[in-house]
Amino acid sequence: MAARLEGQTVVLIGGSAGIGLATARRARAEGAEVILTGRDLDRLKRAAADVDAHRTAVFDAGDPQQLTQFFDDLPDPVDHVLVTAGGNYYARLADIDFREARRLVDDHFFLPLHLARAAVGRVRAPGTLLFMGGVGDQHPFLSGVLSAPLTAALPVMVKNLALEIAPLRVNVIAAGFVDTDLSERLLGDQIEARRAELRETLPVRRVVGPEDVADLAVHVMTNTALTGASFTIDGGQRLL
Ligand SMILES: NC(=O)c1ccc[n+]([C@@H]2O[C@H](COP(=O)([O-])OP(=O)(O)OC[C@H]3O[C@@H](n4cnc5c(N)ncnc54)[C@H](OP(=O)(O)O)[C@@H]3O)[C@@H](O)[C@H]2O)c1
Repeated sequence: MAARLEGQTVVLIGGSAGIGLATARRARAEGAEVILTGRDLDRLKRAAADVDAHRTAVFDAGDPQQLTQFFDDLPDPVDHVLVTAGGNYYARLADIDFREARRLVDDHFFLPLHLARAAVGRVRAPGTLLFMGGVGDQHPFLSGVLSAPLTAALPVMVKNLALEIAPLRVNVIAAGFVDTDLSERLLGDQIEARRAELRETLPVRRVVGPEDVADLAVHVMTNTALTGASFTIDGGQRLL
């Protein structure tokens, strides 16, 4: 079978670890050139060597000026952008630190808007902008008062963006637990117990890894009928 991304360039905003790096590997295997970005230079260099990246850029994607500058500096049009930058923040109402809360809103609400604006004219159709979302809006949970509404907003934003910036496509991947550095940082010494619980309780009876999400990301990039859509990948976690 022909490589599905031959002759195309994929940008990974947050490509030095986790889902972004796994997608860079998958895209390379499908014949794409990849451009990786991240904040930590050493980590980015290691990742770039790992996937033989075409280009790298060190900047904080949460800074709209740096994000716009990155797209302005691209020498040639690119085909797809996957955004995996942005942190998580869970807090009970009484404990919310509003500086952290604003950063979360910047990362998961304003960043996609800034990125979409910067990408127009730099990303060519029928490519896709692809944002990472979650399934934390499916069932209410304590400490979800801030993150869950933001998770719910992204698919709605993407539908509207997809109309606005057509024929460029815009899509969301809504992931449940994915076994990455981020999950390890969030769970600390409880990570092994969480993996074991997921293996036992998830309908798929295994833990979802970044390679699973990477496969889906490449599918959304290559199937040019997909836009304004949200794709859930959670091993059935939202059913429990
Ligand atoms: N893992 C999960 O279970 C899960 C589930 C649902 C959704 N998500 C979402 O998916 C995304 C990726 O998750 P992951 O697990 O792959 O995370 P990860 O393993 O921590 O990787 C995140 C990548 O993004 C970069 N990054 C983070 N913030 C950045 C910023 N402001 N500017 C530029 N680069 C940035 C990181 O490098 P630097 O730190 O060096 O910048 C790293 O390369 C996150 O938005 C997360 O909320 C994850």
